[in-house]
Amino acid sequence: MGFSGKKVLVTGASRGIGYATAAAFLKAGAQVAVNARTQSSVDAAMASLGGNTVSAPGDISKADVCQSMVTEAVDALGGLDVLVTNAGVFFRGTMEETDEAAWDYVLDANLKGLFFCSRAALPALKASKGNIVHVASESGLNGYAETTAYCASKGAVVNLTRSMAMELAPDVRVNCVCPGAVETDMARTAFAINGDEDAGLARQRSQYPVGRIGTPEEIAKAIVYLASEDAGFINAAALPMEGGATAGG
Ligand SMILES: NC(=O)c1ccc[n+]([C@@H]2O[C@H](COP(=O)([O-])OP(=O)(O)OC[C@H]3O[C@@H](n4cnc5c(N)ncnc54)[C@H](O)[C@@H]3O)[C@@H](O)[C@H]2O)c1
Repeated sequence: MGFSGKKVLVTGASRGIGYATAAAFLKAGAQVAVNARTQSSVDAAMASLGGNTVSAPGDISKADVCQSMVTEAVDALGGLDVLVTNAGVFFRGTMEETDEAAWDYVLDANLKGLFFCSRAALPALKASKGNIVHVASESGLNGYAETTAYCASKGAVVNLTRSMAMELAPDVRVNCVCPGAVETDMARTAFAINGDEDAGLARQRSQYPVGRIGTPEEIAKAIVYLASEDAGFINAAALPMEGGATAGG
């Protein structure tokens, strides 16, 4: 899965799954544009990643920022072969607790930003016959209580993947990964039980048939595979990565 000479933009690459994905593409030989909300977090990630990176800061929850950030990244890279739309946020609350601000916070980052980053990348991706990998979630394949906005956003990403793949074929493939719980900052807070993050993660680990939750590196490897030429016949796919957690019904 050589990516030598390939140009990749990863949104939300300052930590967690996005950081691991940037590292995995660098290891495979790609040049990587690193996005996160602030210049300082991009700088810190680039310093830690080392190697062949360029800076692409910007809050992707705003459509105009998606356009300017992607343009900046494509200019700095000199083109684009792969877009990974990983940046995302989580909100836990009942429907009564999910006010307009909470709804917009989740949907603007997880769905609107993902769409407008993709839209901004289309000229470069059509030119390179590149591809897109969205980071959806297992919460986009099944419904869960007290996460209605998050589940709605990720379910929309799964079907957006299919719709984009139909529209952009044969030039640009579009796939998504659907992770269950993964060891990141987001998971620590998302699954906390009465504020106890360690207890929350322990409960998550016990609920997975494989006896643990996922690692950012495992998700990153799947993203790199889906973006590679080896996955050339995989299009419009939503890949569950949840250790079999939902297989038993
Ligand atoms: N961790 C999990 O259990 C899990 C499971 C399924 C799906 N996911 C998804 O994986 C993706 C990455 O999650 P993570 O667990 O690594 O989370 P994280 O909170 O550790 O990292 C999220 C990254 O996205 C960035 N980001 C958030 N909002 C942004 C914005 N508006 N503009 C630019 N950057 C922004 C953050 O700065 C950070 O770099 C998210 O889309 C999340 O929904 C995570």
